[in-house]
Amino acid sequence: MNPKLPFYNRVALVTGAGRGIGKATSLHLAKLGASVICVARTQSEVESCATQAGPKALAVPCDITSPHSLQELIARTHERYKRLDYLIISSGIFHRGFLAKTPLSDFDNLFAVNVKAPLSLIQHTLPLLRENNGQIVIVNSSIIRAANTAERGLYASTQSALKSLTDALRDEINAEGVKVISIFPGTTATPRQETIHQALGKPYNPHLLLQPHDVAIALCNSLLLPPTAEATDIFIRPMHKFDTVG
Ligand SMILES: NC(=O)c1ccc[n+]([C@@H]2O[C@H](COP(=O)([O-])OP(=O)(O)OC[C@H]3O[C@@H](n4cnc5c(N)ncnc54)[C@H](OP(=O)(O)O)[C@@H]3O)[C@@H](O)[C@H]2O)c1
Repeated sequence: MNPKLPFYNRVALVTGAGRGIGKATSLHLAKLGASVICVARTQSEVESCATQAGPKALAVPCDITSPHSLQELIARTHERYKRLDYLIISSGIFHRGFLAKTPLSDFDNLFAVNVKAPLSLIQHTLPLLRENNGQIVIVNSSIIRAANTAERGLYASTQSALKSLTDALRDEINAEGVKVISIFPGTTATPRQETIHQALGKPYNPHLLLQPHDVAIALCNSLLLPPTAEATDIFIRPMHKFDTVG
């Protein structure tokens, strides 16, 4: 591997690496020299991502809502690499529905995956991240700026909660040398969007949307700022503006 690559000798743990933004980010980091730990539940997808990312990558099928699985994930990270430079959280689930009819079990599930699990993962990885002036990136959503969130209220509330946690965390741990970056993509051409468009019976034109690789480039560029600078909030939107569905 070329020592001149910007992420040479760096180790990144990426959740949601099985597909979409997480996969694109994993592959871009690997292309720029990083060793990537690819995390999601679907074994075939994380293995495919790690294979494409090259021999320094590790596939760890893992449900990040399980404390036991997170402990195993950290143990395997430590055993294989002995360090962690970047935690990239790009896992998450979407929900659509009227709040008046939404079962509270959906509320529990959405907050468990989108809010509680990221916080738990941050708590588990912070000891390693502190050792190397690590960086945490949370892939949030531009929905936090949307004025009309009808039928998207539950999902939007998880993203607002995530932003609140992220902002406070930055204030708490910047002094320890750890950066905290939020990135807020607009509608991005991932399997999630294809499913949402299909469910709504709307035409799906992925070439008009943000590409997962676009988000990956913005995210990786933010990691490369000098130690004196931190990109706190990055909003990235498709050039083609249209009626957002999810
Ligand atoms: N696509 C968009 O338009 C868009 C826009 C703004 C923000 N975002 C945000 O960007 C992030 C990624 O979005 P995406 O569109 O790439 O999503 P996606 O295509 O739905 O992929 C989500 C990833 O998260 C993983 N995941 C879900 N639950 C998990 C769990 N409990 N444990 C471990 N992994 C889990 C999934 O794998 P498994 O199911 O195999 O676990 C999958 O790899 C999400 O947080 C989303 O809210 C997306």
